[in-house]
Amino acid sequence: MPKPPACPDKVNVLLIGGGGREHALGWKIKKSGRLGKLWIDAKGHGGLAPLGECCPIPTSGPFHEKSNSLFQLRNWCEEQDIGLIVVGPEIPLAQGIHDALATETCLVFGPPEGGARLEADKVFAKKLMRTVSVPTADGRTFTLAEDALEYVRAKDEPCVIKASGLAAGKGVMVCPTLPEAEEAITRVLIDREFGDAGNTLIVEEMLTGPEVSVLALTDGNVCWILDPAKDHKRVGEADTGPNTGGMGAYCPAPVLDEAQMAFVEREIFVPTLDALKREGIVYRGVLYAGLMLTKAGPKVLEFNCRFGDPECQPLLARLKGDIIQILWDTAAGNLANTTIEFDDRPACCVVMCSAGYPGTYEKGKPIAGIDTAQGLGGPGEQVIVFHAGTKHEGGEIVTNGGRVLSVTALASDLERARMLANEACAAIEFEGAFFRSDIGAKASSEP
Ligand code: AMP
Ligand code: GLY
Repeated sequence: MPKPPACPDKVNVLLIGGGGREHALGWKIKKSGRLGKLWIDAKGHGGLAPLGECCPIPTSGPFHEKSNSLFQLRNWCEEQDIGLIVVGPEIPLAQGIHDALATETCLVFGPPEGGARLEADKVFAKKLMRTVSVPTADGRTFTLAEDALEYVRAKDEPCVIKASGLAAGKGVMVCPTLPEAEEAITRVLIDREFGDAGNTLIVEEMLTGPEVSVLALTDGNVCWILDPAKDHKRVGEADTGPNTGGMGAYCPAPVLDEAQMAFVEREIFVPTLDALKREGIVYRGVLYAGLMLTKAGPKVLEFNCRFGDPECQPLLARLKGDIIQILWDTAAGNLANTTIEFDDRPACCVVMCSAGYPGTYEKGKPIAGIDTAQGLGGPGEQVIVFHAGTKHEGGEIVTNGGRVLSVTALASDLERARMLANEACAAIEFEGAFFRSDIGAKASSEP
């Protein structure tokens, strides 16, 4: 096997995506001594625009077609001597950005399209898990509504209905009762609310237990399991109200002990990567397992092919070392020679949202107080305000999305980090702003 290319002293980086996760990636990339020039693709983004220049060529997919813009993008990457493309979101990965742009001199952090199917095609992920006995909920696949309805009526048990394709985090419906399951099936297969993402659905058994996100960096062979993180999906305090993209996260999450982490590596990550390899897929990037810690042990609820948002923010706030080196080694197949370390301090990230989120919301509200928030905290403490949905407009920073800011605090213990993140949120103002004040509050009481 040829030796993987070593990370050059200076690397020009193109960062794809424009949310809180990407701002955290850009913030960390900007600190790297190996950074040549940083390019972004989120024009005018409140957090990213000051960090880099915007790529002048459209970076949106699909990437298989021999389109003019793909040709231009390839040429542009060559002209600008881009050495590393870091892909934040799942959609470009599922559309084949890796396959279209990776070359010997331009590495792509993020798996090829075949690997991204773990997230983009839940039926594929389920089958793959089954072939290598990765613990997951039992599930049956349907394309016809009458078959799915007949199945849930015969079972008459709590279940979870999942659209198989990418549905922006909205395609999963937890259905404790039969009428809810019937309604969910109707929404997916008859009303076609999720379009082609709902051509196929899975009816899964409903599991119970605490949830945790375990993310690993992998070069297809070596797998570095990162400190576990905990997301908070429901919009309201004490986990009430509808699901969102994530209202906040903390890291490390103490719910998994060392033996359970070893189990997760051995029984989930290693066999999944082996199964991908057997399909000829070299998976290089982040493999994210959303787990439920059931009485029968950890089980996979979902795989994602990228960093979680907001899990990425507390993870990267704690990551030590040079991120370009780490991302490069992952993309180059050189993780065996890399060490990944975290700051001992826990981090808590609280997401500030626009009124109405996760439903409809207004944009364009001026934001004040970010500098004050970032100045809070005593010695050994830090507040970092990552921008999710913001943009520069007329010399101001204004809201530009449902999730607006990821306010992240590092402190000596999680409770203090939580208090500091809340204090920082209280120092920031925009019309209609709201956030959950209980991110991380239950950490010590969970099993
Ligand atoms: P996912 O997008 O697959 O992570 O699902 C979103 C949320 O739905 C998860 O965070 C869980 O709270 C819930 N969920 C998904 N699958 C199941 C399952 N089989 N049993 C219980 N809850 C589930
Ligand atoms: N925080 C959940 C996700 O990124 O999918």
